[in-house]
Amino acid sequence: MTSSQVISAEAKQVLITNDRGGYTVPTEGLYPYQWNWDSAVAALGFAQFDVDRAWVEIETLFQGQWDDGMVPHILFHKSDPGYFPGPDVWGCLGPIPSSGIIQPPIAATMARLIWAQDEEAGRARIAALYPKMLKWHSWIMRWRLHRGAVCTTHPWETGRDNAPDWDNTMQRMDASDVGEYTRRDTQHVDSADRPTKFDYDRYVKLVQIGRRLKWDQAAMLAESPFRVADPTMTFTTLRAARDLRTVGQALGADTAILEADIKRLEAGAATLWNPALGSYDSRDVLSGEWAGCVSNASYLCWFAGVENKDMLARLRAVMERVTYPVPSNDTGAESFDARRYWRGPTWAIVNMLIGMGLADMGHVDEANTLAKKTGDLIAEHGFAAYFDPFTGSAAGGGTFTWTAAVWLAWAGGN
Ligand code: DGY
Repeated sequence: MTSSQVISAEAKQVLITNDRGGYTVPTEGLYPYQWNWDSAVAALGFAQFDVDRAWVEIETLFQGQWDDGMVPHILFHKSDPGYFPGPDVWGCLGPIPSSGIIQPPIAATMARLIWAQDEEAGRARIAALYPKMLKWHSWIMRWRLHRGAVCTTHPWETGRDNAPDWDNTMQRMDASDVGEYTRRDTQHVDSADRPTKFDYDRYVKLVQIGRRLKWDQAAMLAESPFRVADPTMTFTTLRAARDLRTVGQALGADTAILEADIKRLEAGAATLWNPALGSYDSRDVLSGEWAGCVSNASYLCWFAGVENKDMLARLRAVMERVTYPVPSNDTGAESFDARRYWRGPTWAIVNMLIGMGLADMGHVDEANTLAKKTGDLIAEHGFAAYFDPFTGSAAGGGTFTWTAAVWLAWAGGN
């Protein structure tokens, strides 16, 4: 076996080990449940060696869909005391105990890619998923738009928990009455790689607010102190709308609504362009303030089918300057921290989404370079959650499902 085949065998084993029967945990210990976007990536990984299991992953995720269409960010299939905040803290009443927030809606994109690998047999599977995926998309369009950009109501929704994008908003929040709680994450991994207590208090406070409002979106819109239009949610939702349109057309469905949604989301994406920063950025819709952050999510424009020459020039410069791109924060920013979660480290999953977008939009050299560098990173440093962008050293601990899936589906072929 070549070394690449050895790593592929290991990657496959990571997925199999983290499989809990119908769903996959992001990693043993730290994340013991089904996480929404991790799961979508896991499905794409499974599709490389077991396409039936790939479909099951997404089908299980949609079993947790709420009546109103929302698909939660965590499904607590069976309780695990090693994670906080668990189902008792969220107080949600979906078909499966869950959190009350979402995550970037990449399931539709992954389902479409899986279908491309399983055209005939997969038709019935995607036809059954399509109305559910559409219902979730419509829920986002109904509740989360601001000037066409998609807003997040909790840093965890974006997946980019402690990104500097939320610093100003979090500073303004009062969490003095959050009460006592015990973090579990820092019992699994080094606290220097994780969000601070200041951030965690606010994450928990936002959960308490959502619960008090019974996760009623209209009430949260009126009362929650956290609503930020962000590149992760906006670009992934726009991409999902395009993929749903493609799937809908192939199934013979009327896709006029999606057509209109795509236009609204394209206009929304344009509102995330911060001219002073020269980048896609997050904006707090309550204060109107820009975050002033060039994150790895800023480069998801191509994934959404949005071309931007300035972002391309910026990406090329980052790929020259940084050993293992794409860092989750501008390396020159004051808030840059090479190891702390979303404040600097490189994430293979975001690289894959950026790379897929680059390839789709004809930037094949950049896409190949990014896939190659990501492949080297994983080959040299393992299936970590995230990596120091300069040294490549693994951070966040664990053997991560989505890093293994990224190897199998995208970075391992180089
Ligand atoms: C956590 O608990 O750290 C997660 O990122 C929330 O989704």
